[in-house]
Amino acid sequence: MGHSQKLLPQLKVYRLCMFISLVVGTITLLLFCTDKPESLIQLSIKYSRPTNQSKTHVPFQLPEQCGPGRIVPQGQELSLVTVNGTKTLLVSAYQEHRTATKEVRVIAVVLRSENVDYSCLLCCQDKLHVSKGVSDVHSDHFDFVHGTADIMCPVPSGCESISHITVISAAANSEDELHEFMEVKNQKTRDESFSDNFTVCLSAMFNFTNVLQLVQSLEMFQILGVNKVGIYLTSSSPETQHVLDVYTRKGLVEVIPWSWSKYLKVSQGFMPFKDPGDLHYYGQIPALNDCIYRYMYQSRYVAMQDIDELILPQSVSSWLELLPILEKTYGVDKGYMFENNVFPITKSPPSPQTLPSQTPSWQNVTGVNILAHLYSEPIIAETHYCNFKIIVNPRAVFSPTVHGLLKSKNGRAWVDRNIARMYHTRSAKQTHLTPDQLIFDGRLLSYSKRLIPAVNTVLRECGLLHKHSTD
Ligand SMILES: *[C@@H]1O[C@H](CO)[C@@H](O)[C@H](O)[C@H]1NC(C)=O
Ligand SMILES: *[C@@H]1O[C@H](CO)[C@@H](O)[C@H](O)[C@H]1NC(C)=O
Ligand SMILES: *[C@@H]1O[C@H](CO)[C@@H](O)[C@H](O)[C@H]1NC(C)=O
Ligand SMILES: *[C@@H]1O[C@H](CO)[C@@H](O)[C@H](O)[C@H]1NC(C)=O
Ligand SMILES: *[C@@H]1O[C@H](CO)[C@@H](O)[C@H](O)[C@H]1NC(C)=O
Repeated sequence: MGHSQKLLPQLKVYRLCMFISLVVGTITLLLFCTDKPESLIQLSIKYSRPTNQSKTHVPFQLPEQCGPGRIVPQGQELSLVTVNGTKTLLVSAYQEHRTATKEVRVIAVVLRSENVDYSCLLCCQDKLHVSKGVSDVHSDHFDFVHGTADIMCPVPSGCESISHITVISAAANSEDELHEFMEVKNQKTRDESFSDNFTVCLSAMFNFTNVLQLVQSLEMFQILGVNKVGIYLTSSSPETQHVLDVYTRKGLVEVIPWSWSKYLKVSQGFMPFKDPGDLHYYGQIPALNDCIYRYMYQSRYVAMQDIDELILPQSVSSWLELLPILEKTYGVDKGYMFENNVFPITKSPPSPQTLPSQTPSWQNVTGVNILAHLYSEPIIAETHYCNFKIIVNPRAVFSPTVHGLLKSKNGRAWVDRNIARMYHTRSAKQTHLTPDQLIFDGRLLSYSKRLIPAVNTVLRECGLLHKHSTD
């Protein structure tokens, strides 16, 4: 490809962390450097898939000039296109405007050991065009047998606009097959006047029951200036689903169904030997890749993080004010990396914390109250550069990964913790600490005046708080 792409070093950081932990021969460090959200509340509860999506795409007809075939429906379930004769699964397709040749990027999940010659069928304004697809398997496969890939489909001359696309195996005899096509998104570029300033990508939500922290985080996001939250949802409790429905109606949340069980067995973890499966952690990597492209021309910036993480500026109050500071300090179009600070929910604080008086009314709501966990673990050398999360200009990114970027235009930059840092309210990482070794950080309290009433309003709307309880 004709653009400058840099292989960025955070995979090396990740590998270094893995390496150290293997050498030391304990899994303790390994656990430090992986980032499985453990703040899920374990309850015996029935999990449900997303059931009530307000934004269901109605399948429409494939343009006549593209021959017989059908468009894969996008709705309440994850619908992938299977490439006949191979193990390849097509996730989504986006026009790529930033490379020298005009092409369509098909985000796919492939069996890494399988070599396939791909042909792309492009449904153009005049007729069906065919081109040779070039597959690039991402290096962040964590040794699972399946991995994320980009299949790049060059657009032949004479093809001005591509409405739909599919990829087939060049070897398969597919003359008589009825092909399944996907819509090609991002047909138009945009460099300004975005509909959203910030979109948060939550890339793997499964068995989710932590309602209180979900509502608190979604309200905090809005206070910080976030307009959209894309949630790749595998399963959740009915209560969580209800809350997500309420936020979907408000236009904040967009739920993307992400249950892969029809296609392959996703792992529940990061290591094939520990959490067997075909694909890393609930398909988080293809989700992150899809999210970058899905919001590329809708959102000025995209944050890739988890629901139990909050990136809080230290000298200004919102991300709207923070980003100009970061761009001035570190340069524009970087992946801005925020230091991970763990606020353990599993440790009692050294002294009773002074909580705003309204919070006891949340005692009946399932989940973690972030305002009750204001003590952080100290930063230690072994994990200092692990588990950071990033905010990026999505148009400067080619492929994201769990903690950062694989390929981007302009690299990345560490954000000084005195400018902004990440508050990660979850189970303890440094489990040996005594309460007096935890460090008070009350930054969150400066938001509580706005946060508490906002959370109360939503909890009431969701029927999780009695009408009469005070603000
Ligand atoms: C789905 O949401 C609509 C409102 O958008 C609501 O009226 C309906 O009862 C919901 N259905 C289910 C099954 O939850
Ligand atoms: C895949 O191959 C099978 C068997 O040859 C055929 O019946 C089916 O229609 C094909 N599916 C697609 C999407 O091409
Ligand atoms: C985006 O931020 C600008 C200020 O920088 C603000 O005027 C605008 O309303 C924001 N857009 C949205 C959708 O919130
Ligand atoms: C999620 O729930 C399913 C079904 O109850 C269970 O099989 C699975 O182990 C759970 N996953 C995690 C990570 O807890
Ligand atoms: C919590 O639940 C109990 C028992 O159902 C109820 O009496 C109490 O009013 C509830 N508290 C709040 C703040 O909703």
